[in-house]
Amino acid sequence: MALSRFDFPAGFVFGAATAAYQIEGAQFGGAGPCHWDSFAATPGNVVRAEDGARACDHYHHWPADLDLLRAANMDAYRFSTSWARVMPDGVTVNPEGLDFYDRLVDGMLQRGLKPFQTLYHWELPSALADRGGWANRDTCFYFADFAETITRRIGDRVASIATINEPWCVAWLSHFLGCHAPGHRDIRAAARAMHHILLAHGAATQRLRGMGQDNLGIVLNFEAVEAASDTPADQAAADRQDGIFNQWFIQAISQGSYPAHVLQGLGPHMPADWQDDMALISQKLDWLGVNYYTRNIVEHAPASAWPHLRSVAGPRPKTQMGWEIYPEGLRATLTRLHRDYIGDLPIYVTENGMANADEIAAGEIPDAVREAFLFAHLQATKDAMAKGAQVKGFFYWSLLDNYEWAEGYEKRFGLVHVDFETLARTPKASYHAFARALASNA
Ligand code: FCB
Repeated sequence: MALSRFDFPAGFVFGAATAAYQIEGAQFGGAGPCHWDSFAATPGNVVRAEDGARACDHYHHWPADLDLLRAANMDAYRFSTSWARVMPDGVTVNPEGLDFYDRLVDGMLQRGLKPFQTLYHWELPSALADRGGWANRDTCFYFADFAETITRRIGDRVASIATINEPWCVAWLSHFLGCHAPGHRDIRAAARAMHHILLAHGAATQRLRGMGQDNLGIVLNFEAVEAASDTPADQAAADRQDGIFNQWFIQAISQGSYPAHVLQGLGPHMPADWQDDMALISQKLDWLGVNYYTRNIVEHAPASAWPHLRSVAGPRPKTQMGWEIYPEGLRATLTRLHRDYIGDLPIYVTENGMANADEIAAGEIPDAVREAFLFAHLQATKDAMAKGAQVKGFFYWSLLDNYEWAEGYEKRFGLVHVDFETLARTPKASYHAFARALASNA
């Protein structure tokens, strides 16, 4: 028997999530160039060199897209406000950009949807990337200025604000592994980005608090890290991966410190006097956002540089991304956060979902695998709540098929199918199943 909203406490928030660059269409409305445009234009980075210039053209289709959320009985919409749209060169305001988000937020409120805003879902303006981007400490304070500017316009109407989406992706995936913009593979740039992205969070949070804004949080991503064997070498490798991916960010914001075993590798490359920033980084928050997708099984790789590890495939079925389906990891993540890091601080599952090679047949998309995925992860959330985790909401990633970063348009995460030629939107079977579960007259 599938779950419904009545299996969760009254007031539990259900929604879907998107991000600006992945859906809006960066060519519209006077947005400036961002580092994803140049990353995509550089050979070898993105499948078919696709970029976000048009994406789902949500910039013009937003009323119909908000209608889709409403028609699915959702309570909230997690969206992001693009820095490059609001400030095309990173510092100068584009009035069209502010107007767009003003309309969008009013459109949510008119439909009874709570606006859950994210400030940085990865559109670093190129002008700031040119000055070193997240390797440059100044970027943190430009970011606080952006946070203030957009909040002065829409902060009176949003239900919550997250500063940063997925610092691990911003820093490690993008500056050490080179898989996302700006595509660096440089431990020194990576160490700086690992710290500066948290400093940006702290600086923006302090600025918004000073303006009287409440309901401030950050969205971190977590994976269920396991060792490939019980040898001490594999166990230690898993602990390093857990330290870099899971512990670094949550320990910084909740305890004001970094894990010692990660500093063993990054310490020599950290910016000067980083300790002085830890109080700002660990100031009080109102909630924590958790993105969870998969498990990562890790083994020791002595021939590669620190952190000397590599991933091995797990035994369970995989999504179109090749990510292993592992709902127990969400339960374990939520209970661990509650137990070891944040106690009763409210948690929102801000992203969870799967890519599938969906195809339309006679106007229908029978994505039973996504439906099962969604309900298994809702059950895992409920199980964590039974163990005390204070989870207050759940957002499916994503409302629409969209620009999946380095994977281009090939990987389909949506509850709603998008034809990238015609831009036609077609709800999938999972959309209808979620809508039924969320109906208030169920
Ligand atoms: C997360 C991102 C989101 C989307 C999903 C699949 O890492 O926050 O934009 O790409 O993964």
